Amino acid sequence: MPSPGHASVTGDLPVHVAIIMDGNGRWAAQQGLPRIAGHERGTENIRRVTNAAAEAGIDYLTLWAFSTENWSRPLEEVAGIMRLLGEALDRETMELHRQGAQLRHIGSLEGLAPDLRKSVEDAIELTKDNTRLKLTLAFDYGGRQEVVRAMQEIVRAGIPADEITEETIALHLYTCDMPDPDLVIRTSGEHRMSNFLIWQAAYAELHFSPVYWPDFGPEHLQLALDDYASRERRFGNISAEAAALTSARGSR
Ligand code: FPP
Repeated sequence: MPSPGHASVTGDLPVHVAIIMDGNGRWAAQQGLPRIAGHERGTENIRRVTNAAAEAGIDYLTLWAFSTENWSRPLEEVAGIMRLLGEALDRETMELHRQGAQLRHIGSLEGLAPDLRKSVEDAIELTKDNTRLKLTLAFDYGGRQEVVRAMQEIVRAGIPADEITEETIALHLYTCDMPDPDLVIRTSGEHRMSNFLIWQAAYAELHFSPVYWPDFGPEHLQLALDDYASRERRFGNISAEAAALTSARGSR
């Protein structure tokens, strides 16, 4: 089991990619369709991007499908997204399993209808021993709420204040057995994190794509991966070039 922390240091390929799937509503408006049509196309697109990520060799793919704030959307839209989640699980779980993918969830399942909650739990149980792609659905997920929940757990466990470290906190997050995301992608041209993986993405590289999520295809994922490969990750350290210069000066 990987420990929480940095997954990929300089790697050409990120170990963990997390995506804020944004722009379904604007995609639909652009086509003169109701918002739910954008969510339908967005849901279909999950398969396309998941396959592309698996083919690229990504180990962890985390997709943000519903935020804690999304409950405040019109009732009809929320109900539509819940329906889509149920249909997607019915349609895709066996195929994910056949491909050796492991389905995970971060966030809360408490607000879901009991049968939908059971479908999510069954899919997680069925695929739990698979080792290929770890596909995590962030559903009813919010980063601050996750940190609050972690603090509550730590206090309840009676851990003394001066024994609390970064690792203690990481181990009480939903992502306790996952590496931190190396690359966070947000589609639709918005440049915000919006309460997504706020602790875990502290050192992530960020890639903002102008493309609306329903149109975000393998070629756009590849652009993001190429962008990632061109970055130098320093985690607060100095660049390799500067380090070489410093040590060359020191040895003179
Ligand atoms: C953002 O589009 C999209 C979401 C609310 C999350 C993504 C949702 C899906 C892909 C569909 C549901 C997923 C599952 C797994 C059932 P937006 O509505 O905020 O777009 P806008 O900013 O253009 O209005």
